[in-house]
Amino acid sequence: MSRGGSGPDGLGERPPVVHVPRRAPLVGDYEQRRRSFTWEEARGWLEGLPGGGINIAHEAVDRHAHSELADTVALRFLSRTEPTSELTYADLARLSDVAAVALRELGVERGDRVCTLLPRSPELYLTALGTLKAGAVYCPLFPAFGTEPVRQRLELGSVRVLVTDTLSYTRKVAAVRDRLPGLRVVLLVDAPEQGSDEGGTVPWATVMADAARVVERDGFTIAATAPEDPALLHFTSGTTGRPKGAVHVHEAVVAHHATSRFCLDLAPGDTYWCTADPGWVTGTSYGIIGPLTCGVTVVTDSADFDARRWWSILQDQRISVFYTAPTALRMLMRKGAALAREHDLSALRHVVSVGEPLNPEAVVWGTEAFGMPVHDTWWQTETGAIMVSNYPGMPVRPGSMGRPVPGVEVGILARGEDGRAAVVDGHVHEVSEAGGLGELALRPGWPSMFRGYLGEPERYARAFADGWYLTGDLARRDGDGYLWFVGRADDVIKSAGHLIGPFEVESALMEHPAVAEVGVIGKPDPLAGEIVKAFVTLKAEHEPTEALRRELIVFGRRRLGSVAPREVEFDEHLPHTRSGKVMRRLLKARELGLPEGDLSTVEHPS
Ligand code: WT7
Repeated sequence: MSRGGSGPDGLGERPPVVHVPRRAPLVGDYEQRRRSFTWEEARGWLEGLPGGGINIAHEAVDRHAHSELADTVALRFLSRTEPTSELTYADLARLSDVAAVALRELGVERGDRVCTLLPRSPELYLTALGTLKAGAVYCPLFPAFGTEPVRQRLELGSVRVLVTDTLSYTRKVAAVRDRLPGLRVVLLVDAPEQGSDEGGTVPWATVMADAARVVERDGFTIAATAPEDPALLHFTSGTTGRPKGAVHVHEAVVAHHATSRFCLDLAPGDTYWCTADPGWVTGTSYGIIGPLTCGVTVVTDSADFDARRWWSILQDQRISVFYTAPTALRMLMRKGAALAREHDLSALRHVVSVGEPLNPEAVVWGTEAFGMPVHDTWWQTETGAIMVSNYPGMPVRPGSMGRPVPGVEVGILARGEDGRAAVVDGHVHEVSEAGGLGELALRPGWPSMFRGYLGEPERYARAFADGWYLTGDLARRDGDGYLWFVGRADDVIKSAGHLIGPFEVESALMEHPAVAEVGVIGKPDPLAGEIVKAFVTLKAEHEPTEALRRELIVFGRRRLGSVAPREVEFDEHLPHTRSGKVMRRLLKARELGLPEGDLSTVEHPS
C-alpha cells in the first residue's frame, strides 16, 4: 500500500483536519496539560468519602445530588416501545440507595458479584449504581449473548445475584441454573410485584418496595469503600481459553472522570449520547460512570440501530457530545450525508469514536455530516479508560488514534519471532525510529488500570514485561507522537467493536455431534470490520451438505447469540501447527487470498 501521503513520516494519506470548537476545550493546551497533569490533581476534582475512601457511585451521583445539579436530568431513557422517562440526579441518588439496600437485604456482601443481563433500562443503571453503593462488584453481561457465554460468565464470576427479565431468564438461564450453585438470587424486572418466588426468582418491584421502606425508616449509608476495593468486573476475550474477567477498583473513577473531561469534553450543561451497550466496558465507563461524574445529562436509547432514528435523536435531544463506534459510523455513511443535513445538529460540539479502527474516510466524512471531524479514541477493557485520543481543538490526522492521554506513557516495543514484544533477559526495547512498527505498551500507574484477571494471576502476570503492560495491539508512532493502529498481534476477532475469542466459538461448535474440528477467524467485512467465520472439519460419517451448514449456523446462534459465526465453511484439511493446534493465521491468509507463506498482513506483520 502506498504510504506516501501527506502525513508525517509517510503515515496517513490525507491531510490533517483542523476544526475550531465553539467552546474552549477542557483539555486546554495539550502539550502544557501533559507536562503539568498528575492523577493526584484529578483526584482533587472529585470529593471522596469521609475517612479517605472513594466510591464510584458517590462521585457519579450523590456528589451532584447535594449540589445545584440535584434537579438536572441525569438519565433520559428513549425507547421505541415505552414513553421517554427521566431520572434527575436527586432521583438517581435516592433510587440507587434503595437498590443498594435491596441487594444488602438479599444477602449481598462487600465484594460479592452482581450481574445484569438487561437492555438499556432504568433497572440496569440502578443495579449498577446500587451494587457499587453496597460495596459489591458490578458485572454487566451483553444482552445479546446466548446461553453459553452467559452461563460461562456467571460461573467464572461466581455471580451471586443476577438482575434480568423473564424472557432472558427462561431462554438463557433457567435450564443451566442447577449448574450455577453460587447464583443465589435472580431478580426479574418485569415480574409483577405480587408475584411469587416460584422457580427461584424474585420480582424486582417487591424487593425495591421493601427496601424503600427500610431506607425511609433507617436512612442509608454508602459502603466505605477504599480506593483499591474491587468495583467492576468486565469479561473480555483472549485467543485461547476461557474469557478473562478484568477487575477494576473504585479509584478507577478518577480516570473515568479525567478522560471524560479531556477526551469527551464533558461538563454540566452537556447532553451526551453514548451508543455503546452497557454490557461492554464502553457502556459502563462512558455510558454511566464518566459522564455522570461530569454532571451531564446522559441520553440512552434501547432501540436497535436505525439511521433516521439516530439523526433524529441527535437533533431532537440536542445532543452536544456523541460517542459511538466505527461500525455505526459506517452504517450512517451508507445512508449518506444528505440525511444528516435534513436535521438540525446545531447543538453538536464533539463527535468521538472507539472500539475498532476508524477509517480515515469516516473522519473526513464527519466534517460533511456532523460539521466536524470524528475524533478517534483507543483503549481496552483492561485499561478501563481512554488511553489514546484525538482532542477537541487539536488537528486530527485521519487514520491516527491520536496521542496519549495526559498522565499515560505509551511505548512501541520491538517484536520477536512470535510477533509480540521481544523480552530478552527480562528486558524489552522501544522502537526508536519514528514510524517503526511494534507492540503498543503502556506504563502502569493510571487509576483505571485493571488489577487482575479474576482467579488467574498467571495470565495477569503474562500481560506485563519489564514494567510495561502489553496491549496485544500493533501500532506505529509518528515523529509528532501520534499513534497509528496496525492490527492485533493475536487471533482475537473484532466484530462491530466487540471482542470475540475464537476459542469460545470453536468450543461451542465442537459440541455439535457432526463436528470433528473447528478453526475460527475474523473475516474482513466492510461494515462490521470483521465477521466471525468458522472452518469446520466433519466427522467421517457426515456429509458436507448445505442443510448441515445451515444447521451449524443455527446451532451456533442458539448457544452463542450475537458472537456466533455468520459463515461456516467445510474444510477437510485444516492447517495445523507442529503441536497440533489449528493455525488460524493460515486460515485467514487463505481467506484473504494471500499466499500461505506470506502472512505479513495477517496477524504477525513483520
Ligand atoms: C481492542 C480492545 C475500547 C473499549 C471498547 C473495546 C481495539 C479499540 C480502537 C481504535 C483501532 C481499536 C484494539 C483493542 N480497538 N479502540 N480506536 N482503533 N482498534 O474494548 O473489547 O477490550 O477491545 O479493541 O484491538 O486492543 P475491548
